[in-house]
Amino acid sequence: MQKVLDYLKQHQDRFLAEFCDYLRFASVSAQPQHKKDLVACAEWLVAHCRNIGLDARLCETAGHPIVIAKTPGRKAEGGKRKAEDKSRKPHCLVYGHYDVQPPEPLDLWTTPPFEPRITGRNLFARGSTDNKGQNFAHLKAVEAYLKTGTPLPCDLTFVLEGEEEVGSKSLSGFLKAHRQELACDTIVVSDTGMPAPNHPALTYALRGIIAFEITLHGPARDLHSGIFGGAVENPAMAMAQLLAKVRDHHGVIQIPGFYEDVAALSKYERDQIKRYPLSDAKLKKLLGAKELFGERGFTPTEQRSSRPTFEINGLTSGYQGEGSKTIVPAWARAKITCRLVPNQKPAHVRKIVCDWLKQNCPSTVRMEIAAGHGAEAYMVSPTSDAAQAALRALEKAFGTKPILMREGGSIPIVNEFKKVLGADTLLLGIGLPDDNAHSPDEKFNLDCFENGQRMSAFLWQELAA
Ligand code: BES
Ligand code: MN
Repeated sequence: MQKVLDYLKQHQDRFLAEFCDYLRFASVSAQPQHKKDLVACAEWLVAHCRNIGLDARLCETAGHPIVIAKTPGRKAEGGKRKAEDKSRKPHCLVYGHYDVQPPEPLDLWTTPPFEPRITGRNLFARGSTDNKGQNFAHLKAVEAYLKTGTPLPCDLTFVLEGEEEVGSKSLSGFLKAHRQELACDTIVVSDTGMPAPNHPALTYALRGIIAFEITLHGPARDLHSGIFGGAVENPAMAMAQLLAKVRDHHGVIQIPGFYEDVAALSKYERDQIKRYPLSDAKLKKLLGAKELFGERGFTPTEQRSSRPTFEINGLTSGYQGEGSKTIVPAWARAKITCRLVPNQKPAHVRKIVCDWLKQNCPSTVRMEIAAGHGAEAYMVSPTSDAAQAALRALEKAFGTKPILMREGGSIPIVNEFKKVLGADTLLLGIGLPDDNAHSPDEKFNLDCFENGQRMSAFLWQELAA
């Protein structure tokens, strides 16, 4: 093990240069004009994986390519894997994504999003924390094993996709088609967070999600608001009034049945959540908000990790340009997502929310609702052997006892891993709350990068033990 750790220490400068190369690809999955950048990034990854000694290939899909890279020399999996076969090494999947969120608005970046900049112990670039830096840390740990000739205690398969930020459409079919090849004991995903650089964490729950778009149609075209305004419904006003009814002044969702399946937090969990080392004052400062606000009866950490939400992501109607334009707009649109928690069923919540919206829609407008993606929340036992192994690896790498936590974001594919491959996912995130994921000036902390590599190196030992 010492050889592996020494190797990691000695090669950090080169790792950083390679990480910057990875970050220069503008692999924005949502924007069609970046298609070629996603392909180039996937090809770069394949070449890089081969260089460090992995057997790698690029898999075309209907969308962006998937990169598969394996540690060499794994015995062919003939038929069913036998748990009682003690000579068999555990097989683990490491999942990550090389696609990134759109960088816009560009004028809010201190330096351009695809020109990586290092300032102190932070590396700024789109995709640095979400998720290139986190999956690159795992690749570097494996490189250290392979290049020092240290036997890997586990067989590993990296699955790096290019559509996570747009719903992982291709990967879900890919899993079914490659069930046999991807059959594994455990899946490791570093695509979440930890509270602070010296506070490692094992995440045991993620929220689920439903997405949809509401359009309210009013008059057949934008109208002169002086000639017609006052005698016809304004769809923007109708939208505002409708959405305002969704919650009360204490942040409690008013849609009947919205909370009915929510699994209550146990006293034990609430006590654990209290230990999360980010004060309300610090959170307020971090968010740059005038005040914190959330559902009454729950702390901010509970609200953003363990309670369901109804969120307006985008609100559009009428004239958006400079100056004024006196119109009654023809339509108004709202992009909505609800975060879901364990026990809530996406299809059921979608139905009660959409039914309620239709019932409460005034007769003066025509409502259209377009359904988007959906996924259940994820929850896994923090006391399994694999989770205990992960906790030991985190403590060895970071030198501090890790905390157990629930996170508010969603990684829909982990549900598919469970359904299709029958394996649980260890969520070992190394992003920080102030990393600006999905925001301008996204960054990754280089201490997290380095300790993340060490965590990965220890993990394969602990999982095999
Ligand atoms: N890495 C995030 C998910 C995440 C972030 C989980 C922080 C826990 C803590 C991932 O890349 C992401 O942004 N997921 C989307 C999923 C959606 C598009 C279905 C999300 O959570 O909004
Ligand atoms: Mn993301």
